[in-house]
Amino acid sequence: MTYPEKILDIKRFGTPPEANRRVTIGITGCGYWGPNLARNFTALPNCRVKAICDVRQERLAYVQGLYCDLGITTNYAELIEDTAIDALVIATPVRFHFEMALQALEAGKHIFIEKPMAASVKEAKILIQAARERNLILMVGHTFIYSSAVRKIKEIVKSGELGEIQYVAARRLNLGLFQKDINVTWDLAPHDISIISYVLDKDPISVNCQGKAHVNPDIEDITSMVLNYHNGGIATIQNSWLDPNKVRDMTFVGSKKMLVYNDLEPMEKLKIYDKRVEIPPHYDTFAEFHYSYHYGDMYAPYIKQYEPLKVECQHFIDCILTGQTPITNGAEGLKVIQVLEAASESLRLGGAPVHLDYSQEGASRELNRGQASEGAFL
Ligand SMILES: NC(=O)c1ccc[n+]([C@@H]2O[C@H](COP(=O)([O-])OP(=O)(O)OC[C@H]3O[C@@H](n4cnc5c(N)ncnc54)[C@H](O)[C@@H]3O)[C@@H](O)[C@H]2O)c1
Repeated sequence: MTYPEKILDIKRFGTPPEANRRVTIGITGCGYWGPNLARNFTALPNCRVKAICDVRQERLAYVQGLYCDLGITTNYAELIEDTAIDALVIATPVRFHFEMALQALEAGKHIFIEKPMAASVKEAKILIQAARERNLILMVGHTFIYSSAVRKIKEIVKSGELGEIQYVAARRLNLGLFQKDINVTWDLAPHDISIISYVLDKDPISVNCQGKAHVNPDIEDITSMVLNYHNGGIATIQNSWLDPNKVRDMTFVGSKKMLVYNDLEPMEKLKIYDKRVEIPPHYDTFAEFHYSYHYGDMYAPYIKQYEPLKVECQHFIDCILTGQTPITNGAEGLKVIQVLEAASESLRLGGAPVHLDYSQEGASRELNRGQASEGAFL
């Protein structure tokens, strides 16, 4: 049984005590993304969405119309003061995440915060500490970690089928949606950073980022980032709000094979190419030197499709009921913010490398494992 199946199959528990319990939640932010969260949380058997909040009445009316029996409010304090609410889901613009999440934690409520977790490393660390002190669940909406395609990539990379991963290239491009408080890196790259770190089980040691603001002054709408790893390996991430085409792809180039992940493909999201370039190990003269290009078959592995957001929402509820730590917990959210903050600093420095320090909270995966790089990536 795959991980999403395990999360979604309540029968695995037999008749667990938590199956008879329900978590009561509130959702704040009913703009573009909030209704998707409302749809998934209202469909879960062990969750009751008691109320939704937005400062815009029309959005409240829209979501309430879709899912009757929802309380509505334009005042977030009403969700905080409602003692029947166990947990809050925060899907507002990033600049509100910290204050809303801290208020919820201080009121003893578990929180699910959409990506990016906060607007700075400092804020993220305060939230982690506040949750830890009160023994509350803090989960971050890194949705793709719950996708069966991304989980399959990790399985394939770990199996060694691709050989040693030499580099990763990610592109997440579209026209808009322009944000007013964050640049395109903070908006789109959290997905790429979290997927790459999850698949490789490694964190970058430094970041270079370049970009340009074309539409709104000082808010970059195109950025190009390089994540640098131990042993000299790199991953590139290109993000844009100024592209005519929607692109969501990622290429993992290995020493034996190459994997292309296209999230926009409805069925064959992953394609594995038996292609590589080999350089002869020994040659005496330039005439003897020639690259060897290997062109083999391509196959698309079967992946059972689930809505990642459904798996993610169920995982949040399971974590509250069982006390387990979420896969995309505060420390994972913080590491993404560390990369984003370093990328902003690098942008200010015209693309110069900015070192990442994991020595305190959210130590890098290598440090967490207590061992040096395994050499599987880079
Ligand atoms: N996980 C994903 O795949 C995914 C996808 C899209 C967006 N997101 C994240 O979801 C969050 C929201 O993004 P969005 O695109 O829906 O933004 P949005 O601007 O469309 O919606 C935000 C909503 O919050 C409301 N709001 C603002 N201030 C408020 C306040 N003080 N109290 C209550 N409501 C308030 C706004 O009125 C608006 O309706 C962001 O963090 C974004 O990064 C995640």
